[in-house]
Amino acid sequence: DIPVIAIDGPSASGKGTVAALVAQALGFHYLDSGALYRLTALAAQKHAIALDDEAALAQLARNLKVRFDRNEIWLDDERVSDELRTEIIGNGASKVAALPAVRSALLERQHAFRLAPGLVTDGRDMGSVVFPDAAVKIFLTASAEERAQRRYKQLMEKGFSANLTNLLEELRERDARDAARSIAPLKQGADATLLETTHLTIDQAVASVLASYQA
Ligand code: CDP
Repeated sequence: DIPVIAIDGPSASGKGTVAALVAQALGFHYLDSGALYRLTALAAQKHAIALDDEAALAQLARNLKVRFDRNEIWLDDERVSDELRTEIIGNGASKVAALPAVRSALLERQHAFRLAPGLVTDGRDMGSVVFPDAAVKIFLTASAEERAQRRYKQLMEKGFSANLTNLLEELRERDARDAARSIAPLKQGADATLLETTHLTIDQAVASVLASYQA
């Protein structure tokens, strides 16, 4: 069986950074499942599909023409890595992610990333729905203030303008929406290990996940 390390958690917790570094350390594949929801939102914007047209969005999600290339993501042969990280697309992703037909359309696509020698993946429901037999399940979080700081830094590094107060507010709204939805709500699974990273460095968080896997 191909091992999966599932890292779930709220917005801007740093789970993507940690997951990618764990994958690198183990020589495993990496899946940023949030990118698939973001890509669906971006494709909807490009095709002028309303964010509540469930059937059209599910079809779009099923037929996304994407390529993951190390640190870059391509949609229909256009490089979209930076645009994907914007808050507009993040909010759109959170809306399309609440639609059951979209989630099931993306399920098979996510399973396809489970390739030898192993997979590290991050999202909201990696341990609960997509890879319930994962070898390690982590719920990685940090305080809302710390997460707003992390998102702010990430946006600045990409050359986007941002406002910390607005970011904190948007983050809280998104957490509330992700937690309140009926399908795959954001919460720590009963079988997931809590990794609280407010006061941890990235290296410490990575070491902690590796220790859980090697235990
Ligand atoms: O870290 P951040 O939440 O900003 O971004 P993300 O992980 O790329 O996720 C964007 C949105 O996609 C989230 O707000 C979730 O609503 C949704 N999502 C999901 O529902 N299930 C996943 N496995 C991953 C993301």
